Amino acid sequence: MSISSVDGALDRARILLRPAAQAARAASNEGFIDLIGPVEAPQPTAAQRAMNSKFVAAIYERLWRPVGVAALGFYGLSGMDERAKAVKDLRLRDDKKVLDVACGPGNFTKSLGAALSDQGIAIGFDISRPMLLQAARENRSGTAAYVRGDARNLPFDDGTFDAVCCYAALYLVPEPLTVVVELIRVLAPGGRIAIMTSYTREHPLISTPLTLGARTVGVRMFDRTTFTDIFADAGLTEIEQEIHGVAQFVTATKPAG
Ligand SMILES: C[S@@+](CC[C@H](N)C(=O)[O-])C[C@H]1O[C@@H](n2cnc3c(N)ncnc32)[C@H](O)[C@@H]1O
Repeated sequence: MSISSVDGALDRARILLRPAAQAARAASNEGFIDLIGPVEAPQPTAAQRAMNSKFVAAIYERLWRPVGVAALGFYGLSGMDERAKAVKDLRLRDDKKVLDVACGPGNFTKSLGAALSDQGIAIGFDISRPMLLQAARENRSGTAAYVRGDARNLPFDDGTFDAVCCYAALYLVPEPLTVVVELIRVLAPGGRIAIMTSYTREHPLISTPLTLGARTVGVRMFDRTTFTDIFADAGLTEIEQEIHGVAQFVTATKPAG
């Protein structure tokens, strides 16, 4: 991958930022656009601390996520299946603009970008500097670039993206419902949204210990209707939900105009 095409992707990501964020001339000398600077991400829970560790960032894609998924009996999808599902659910092609919120080390972002034409762009967005350093090292491309910021206040205008996703993160971000409202806000009419998050099983003998255990490490468990209801209340259509073990995938479309 040539430096110029990687820089081109970073430039195309920068153009999509709100004017105020562009004016801040955020530094990108580490391979991603940093809208936060030297301030570290808040780390109130064990889960958040892990996401801000250089060690976890380095092993996340090849070891942490696959082992975590296997250990939790998550949903029987391989990483490759899951990435293919994301491309299909988001209906990616041509020169679409995609936002991957809480992208970690870019383990999905690069594949999302690979489904697009040269003029398309997948922006991975995360708050963790170690995760984005890893993304910039391993998962940059001519169609994948990275921005550091807080998902509770996305630095993009309403309706900027043709597709928006957020995988394996709503259960550990602070204020997950605020984040979902932001995901919907930046989605363009006709665009697709896809999330994957936790699902607490309905039987209380399973859901009670699961919810309590998860809470001790800073992970929230969600019921079956929280996200489908938010999507419906926001007027989204084609709402579909798949449950796999203790994970749920929810997809929808923002109605055109
Ligand atoms: C488990 S990783 C998910 C990575 C990837 N999406 C995946 O499916 O494997 C969760 C990510 O959420 C990010 N995160 C947590 N709070 C955030 C916030 N307020 N804004 C943006 N990202 C956040 C963490 O830094 C971490 O990289």
